[in-house]
Amino acid sequence: MLKKSVEDLLNRQIEREGYSSILYLSMASWAETRGYAGVAEWLYAQAEEEKMHMLKIIRYINKKSGKAIIPSFDRPPAEFEGLKIMFDQVLEHEQYITGSINEIVAETEKEKDYSTNNWLQWFVSEQVEEESSVQAIIDKLDLVGDHNLYMFDRDIMSMRTEKGGE
Ligand code: FEO
Repeated sequence: MLKKSVEDLLNRQIEREGYSSILYLSMASWAETRGYAGVAEWLYAQAEEEKMHMLKIIRYINKKSGKAIIPSFDRPPAEFEGLKIMFDQVLEHEQYITGSINEIVAETEKEKDYSTNNWLQWFVSEQVEEESSVQAIIDKLDLVGDHNLYMFDRDIMSMRTEKGGE
């Protein structure tokens, strides 16, 4: 049985993971319409992963006899100023998500909910992975500047580390 405060924070995280998914979908669509096929592919895959994260939390809450609430989502921005600025926004968003996961971890410690704490470790590792892969993309973009975006777009999918949503 989940403590109310842990359940509430997990429900809050459903909304945050779901918003991440539609934010990346919106970025993917923007990139696709500008001819960045590789970047769009990367973001579509990322959007799918975020959906898996959301689903994982929904199912966990229900499995622990809580009640997962499916929220509505804010509309994500539809326009982005450029690839570099957009990936800076992705990193900033992932840092925010890391902070949000850490808050749930802290609450499980406070409530001595060690099983949820243990279950959350997957998300803790996932955030390390995601922040580092986005940072690598930003470093690459800094390196190529505005001149070699064609090659950057062609190669971005090879920078993706394969991982499942489980
Ligand atoms: Fe599910 Fe990228 O945080």
